[in-house]
Amino acid sequence: MAPSIFLTGGTGYIGGSVLDALVKQHPEYDITVLLRNVPQSFTSKYPGVKIVLGDFDDTELIAETASKSDIVIHNGNSKHEPSIRAHIDGLLRNSTPLSPRFLIRLGGTGAIADWADPSYYGEKNPKVWNDVQDIKELTSLPDTALHRNIEKIVQKAAVDHGDRLKCAIICSCGVYGPGKGPGRTQSQLVPLFCDEIVNNTKRAFYTQSGENTRSWVHIDDLVAVYMKLVEAAAAGGGNADWGLHGYYFTATQEVSQLDFATAIGRILKKHGIIEKEEPVRLPLDDIWKMLQKSKWRYMGIYAFACNTRTTSERARKVLEYQPSAPSLFDCLEHDVLAATGREA
Ligand SMILES: NC(=O)c1ccc[n+]([C@@H]2O[C@H](COP(=O)([O-])OP(=O)(O)OC[C@H]3O[C@@H](n4cnc5c(N)ncnc54)[C@H](OP(=O)(O)O)[C@@H]3O)[C@@H](O)[C@H]2O)c1
Repeated sequence: MAPSIFLTGGTGYIGGSVLDALVKQHPEYDITVLLRNVPQSFTSKYPGVKIVLGDFDDTELIAETASKSDIVIHNGNSKHEPSIRAHIDGLLRNSTPLSPRFLIRLGGTGAIADWADPSYYGEKNPKVWNDVQDIKELTSLPDTALHRNIEKIVQKAAVDHGDRLKCAIICSCGVYGPGKGPGRTQSQLVPLFCDEIVNNTKRAFYTQSGENTRSWVHIDDLVAVYMKLVEAAAAGGGNADWGLHGYYFTATQEVSQLDFATAIGRILKKHGIIEKEEPVRLPLDDIWKMLQKSKWRYMGIYAFACNTRTTSERARKVLEYQPSAPSLFDCLEHDVLAATGREA
């Protein structure tokens, strides 16, 4: 029988793209989404998708809907504890070892970012995290790691109820490319960088040597990982890893801040948005002052000066993940023009 799926974050860049792929590739799936605002075109675009109106604080609604679902795909605010607890509570209500339920949760490589280590600000950290070889470290990161609060909840549930609750964390790196969902279709990092340039520095920028490096994935490749995991879940688990080993990086390439800034500077200059294309080297103090609206004092450092380097081995190994989408540099002009309010 076709599985019932409960998806959150369906109006978001990632969750929306996953929703769109699920509907198009698996019209037989019975899909329910949690939405706090329903986009105007939602029902005409996805007539078969059921809507539950609510937000992440509606925990009984989430638990009740999860209890009637075979697979939960939780996207959106990756730090919200009550909603993940509610999903787990609901999934456990009707699960049995003969009929296990599945939880696929979106995380982020902020979890392994080296924002707390000043020795690598603006410099390349040689550590590249591997989701197979480093799995013990990845499942016991310090409590100060980003997303750790949620990962601990998911991993405890996986250990305590692994016979009837199969969990996976998709730990995505920076995403680029046009989203396909009914709401937000832009990612986060390219707009953040462009906003800072347009509204503050007027030049693309880096700090120190600019060799700090980030992993990236095209939204279509990221969605492909989701689809393979959902299909495995629909087949009762398939060949996928679940539980403590159900931890999936998605990276397809790495780019240094200097190369990122150089490419974006060129595009912004080409379109008359800034005057000089060469990126400028800024002192670290300037980076510390950036993005402080986020109320996390490391946000500027996290976005522009630290390393998040990952290798996606598990998805390739157990899901036969074969990324095929265009590279970051192939998509950057589109993303920069979208981020600056110009059509690509
Ligand atoms: N984009 C990236 O490069 C990237 C990479 C790795 C990890 N992540 C993380 O993954 C998560 C999703 O990323 P994204 O780019 O898809 O973000 P996004 O476009 O901002 O989407 C967020 C989604 O979550 C929903 N949401 C947030 N808070 C909610 C609440 N309290 N109740 C109900 N719905 C809520 C939003 O609904 P509304 O439309 O109603 O606001 C939206 O559907 C974020 O936590 C992000 O930090 C992002």
